Amino acid sequence: MKKISTRLMLLGALLVVSSIMFAACAAPTAEPQEEPTEEAEHAEDEEHDHTEDHVLAEGDVARGGKLYTKWYAALGLDKPTEDQPLWATQATNERTGADTWRCKECHGWDYIGADGWYNTDSSHYTGFAGVFEAQDMSAEVIVAWLDGTTNADHDFSVMGEDAMIDLATFLQEGMLDNRDFIDYETGIAITADVDHGKELYTSTCNVCHGEDGRAIEGLIIGAVLHDEPWVELNHLVRTGMPGTSMPASHDLGWSIQDVLDVLTYEATLPTEAP
Ligand code: HEC
Ligand code: HEC
Repeated sequence: MKKISTRLMLLGALLVVSSIMFAACAAPTAEPQEEPTEEAEHAEDEEHDHTEDHVLAEGDVARGGKLYTKWYAALGLDKPTEDQPLWATQATNERTGADTWRCKECHGWDYIGADGWYNTDSSHYTGFAGVFEAQDMSAEVIVAWLDGTTNADHDFSVMGEDAMIDLATFLQEGMLDNRDFIDYETGIAITADVDHGKELYTSTCNVCHGEDGRAIEGLIIGAVLHDEPWVELNHLVRTGMPGTSMPASHDLGWSIQDVLDVLTYEATLPTEAP
């Protein structure tokens, strides 16, 4: 609560400062002014965009990504029991209850909804659009989507304001277009360096998952790589598993190619239980 109001005040202050600056620029000056170069004008436009039209939320990308995966698990809240109200506006995805409240269930692991992995061929198909355009939305506009202001049936305010700011941050800074990296026909990385993936796995993932990917009871990493879509695993490795201490590759400073290299290496691990 405090955080967002501080941020809103800051935003207000920024708007005041920028309008004063604007006024100062517009006021007639004694000195004859040179015509601004095209470049300078462009730079001014960009600055303008940033302060007034595209305010960045100051949350945490990886936390926001975990909320996108399953916000109630990430926050340790009770699972919703009823269906999300908008769920009734579709009839193709037959899941019920808590799953219907997950951002990924309606907007997709790849953030492009029905245009992506959850298309008409998927049991997850809802027909709902993605959230990719939120990249260009201002923090306030995104939060207004999340707290039910824009559409009362799209109300996730039970997660609290800090969480909504984290989600806004993820939507602004954490999304990428998986189609640039993953072949949607084969479902795997377009290019990958498996040796580099092994190095990364050994230095970072080994400690919990073990050399053969079977150290965590009930989880066989090699099998997961063949059973679950890479658009999902890409999101989970980049932002971490909700409710666990698995590190987010985003916080480790890994590139998207690093993630794909590791996934490609993990796909070579044993797929059967020991
Ligand atoms: C039950 C399905 C459902 C769930 C769950 C859901 N959304 Fe949505 N979302 C929608 C629909 C449908 C719309 C469009 C509604 C409208 O046009 O009024 C939408 C719109 C949006 C928009 C505006 C997109 C745009 O381009 O205008 C954002 C941002 C968004 N959702 C983010 C989220 C986030 C983050 C979550 C998880 C907390 C989430 N949504 C969960 C169905 C869902
Ligand atoms: C601190 C321990 C820890 C580290 C380090 C760790 N993980 Fe995990 N990982 C977990 C836990 C816990 C789970 C969830 C187990 C479960 O749900 O049964 C998990 C789950 C997974 C899954 C399965 C996802 C799914 O959908 O079931 C994958 C894939 C994965 N980790 C990849 C990685 C990669 C890649 C790395 C290295 C960047 C890594 N992990 C590092 C603890 C860790």
